[in-house]
Amino acid sequence: MSEIIINPASGSIGAEIGGVDLSVDLSDAVFSEIRQTFIEHGLIFFRNQELTPDDHLRFAKRWGEININRFFAKVEGHEQIAEVKKDTDQEINIGGAWHTDHSYDQIPAMGSILLARETPKTGGDTLFANMYRAYESLSDGLKGTLESMNACHSSRHVFGAHTGYAEASNQRIGNPELATQDAIHPVIITHPESKRKALYVNPEFTVNFEGWTKEESKPLLNYLTEHSTRSENITRFKWEPGSIAFWDNRCTWHFALNDYPGEKRLMHRITVEGSALC
Ligand code: SIN
Repeated sequence: MSEIIINPASGSIGAEIGGVDLSVDLSDAVFSEIRQTFIEHGLIFFRNQELTPDDHLRFAKRWGEININRFFAKVEGHEQIAEVKKDTDQEINIGGAWHTDHSYDQIPAMGSILLARETPKTGGDTLFANMYRAYESLSDGLKGTLESMNACHSSRHVFGAHTGYAEASNQRIGNPELATQDAIHPVIITHPESKRKALYVNPEFTVNFEGWTKEESKPLLNYLTEHSTRSENITRFKWEPGSIAFWDNRCTWHFALNDYPGEKRLMHRITVEGSALC
């Protein structure tokens, strides 16, 4: 019998898992309980984890292949771990807008496991939105319209050349020549494991609905953002060194708050491969 403690978070999304040490190789029974919690809540948190980069990778590999982000700086000696860092003299942070990771890929990463290494004295929390609930709380009319639509997601305007992101992030972001992919995904997806429907557009990477111009798409995308980020749909995670958030990109958005000027924040992120969305 495992000693795992599961405390649901606010905003109908996420659960904090206690009573587990991720620095050891987890038994199949414990891993299966964690996995079930992840599928059920779409987002899991752990605290006080003392993990080496190899421990972090071992845990990530229990979930699938590692998907290496081609734009983020890497942790030295660990090509598969992205360094999400804000220096004391850096103005913009990474992830400071609502998004879901890698939606610009044909096969977006399934999830991201973010581990806090250094956190500011106050601030630097991350917000998460529940995209199952975003879908479920739409009117039947709008649900019906969106069901038949696809949307185009792109990396070009974020990670491409001349966006200013690399300079503003102290070169924490690179390889602009690799920002060439656009991907078409359904606007409403069925989560491959929970089988629940979720709204799958996001304000950072979704550029237009298929067959619509960007100008035509903008008002509806703006409405969906406003709808999805209502307070009852959001949970907020406060980090300490050793905290972990593992989110499911298929049913959540996240937003890293940039409210700690002059302080450093250092996180390690591993993204796990996903599957085609439908
Ligand atoms: C990210 O968008 O992956 C970063 C989130 C965070 O740093 O809180």
